[in-house]
Amino acid sequence: MNVHVQTEGRVTEGVLLQVDDLRTHFRTERGLVRAVDGVTFTLERGKALGIVGESGSGKTVLSRTIMGLLPSTAVLSGSVRFAGQEVLGLDAKQMRHLWGREMSMVFQNPMVSLNPLMKLGKQIAEPLQIHLGMDKVNATETAERLLRDVRIPEPEKRLDQFPHELSGGMRQRVMIAIALACGPTLLFADEPTTALDVTVQAQILDLIGEQRRDRNMSVILVTHDLGVVAGHTDEIAVMYGGRLVEKAPTRELFANMKMPYTKSLMRSIPKLDHASHTRLLTIPGRPPDLVNPPAGCRFAPRCAYARDRCREEEPPLTTVAGRNDHVYACWYPVGSPEFEERDAEIMTAVSVSGGGD
Ligand SMILES: Nc1ncnc2c1ncn2[C@@H]1O[C@H](COP(=O)(O)OP(=O)(O)O)[C@@H](O)[C@H]1O
Ligand code: SF4
Ligand SMILES: [Mg+2]
Repeated sequence: MNVHVQTEGRVTEGVLLQVDDLRTHFRTERGLVRAVDGVTFTLERGKALGIVGESGSGKTVLSRTIMGLLPSTAVLSGSVRFAGQEVLGLDAKQMRHLWGREMSMVFQNPMVSLNPLMKLGKQIAEPLQIHLGMDKVNATETAERLLRDVRIPEPEKRLDQFPHELSGGMRQRVMIAIALACGPTLLFADEPTTALDVTVQAQILDLIGEQRRDRNMSVILVTHDLGVVAGHTDEIAVMYGGRLVEKAPTRELFANMKMPYTKSLMRSIPKLDHASHTRLLTIPGRPPDLVNPPAGCRFAPRCAYARDRCREEEPPLTTVAGRNDHVYACWYPVGSPEFEERDAEIMTAVSVSGGGD
């Protein structure tokens, strides 16, 4: 139970985040890097959205854009409405009142984000003093309670410890405690478990889910691993080359994925009971150059189902018939006659060559 969280008086339903045709480009010597290139989605209050895609697909830049944490080389367009308010392009001073209380982020590597020279108690209590105006005693008490919330044993002792005295999993719990400290409405967790072993990963994701439900918080879970988000999100958005290429409720996505790219990501999920699970299947070829992305579908150079049209015309986001919560951007989606025809050819080729998995 989180007695100290003020959910009273808070709006608990409806759209929290509305992102429209968002573009985040960076000026570089090579030219404009189109890191996020026309992304549209909404997130409801209290829901967990997974953002998946290979490394370099724009997941972190998307999260940092929403939080207003970008370098001055960023060129922005489109719209990000948070609780009805336009926040795109606000400067750090204007964003500061949203950080901590409205949006916060758990970063990938706690060793980089935690101050190695500061006791944990102070690291957790300080934002409470700054953002919520608590006095020191109150902030320290709250820090201890937060550590208990994130299931850290003997929290009163931990307050006096330094980050290196904790295990990787415990440090990540501290990061979550810090991110939760001011009772955010939206929590970003950017690859929060990548550095941890599988059992601890599951515990951390369970913890985030539990805190989300207790606090009626929305969560955006960013990961390159579709397997990670499967059991911990309500919806999944798939990114490729700076674009959102498929989005659906989690169950629907797994049951009825439309994008060949999503299918490839699915194949790259390591199976725990599989002898070769350490050998992660990767998708052949490289992600697109975001300075000169390919014309048409950005996945075409790597897609086994690509046809001429894919290389010429960019597929628009299309709604699955009868389901307005499932969108995808593909000319020849899974289940289309063209896809099935090509799939049969691929299967025949694989069986003739004796390959396959
Ligand atoms: N500050 C920056 N300047 C130029 N390019 C950047 C900057 N930050 C990120 N990028 C580029 O944007 C693309 C998307 O990066 P990122 O969002 O970190 O990918 P992901 O989180 O999906 O792995 C990458 O090609 C990356 O090199
Ligand atoms: S549009 Fe064409 S290239 Fe792109 S994913 Fe669909 S089939 Fe493959
Ligand atoms: Mg990233």
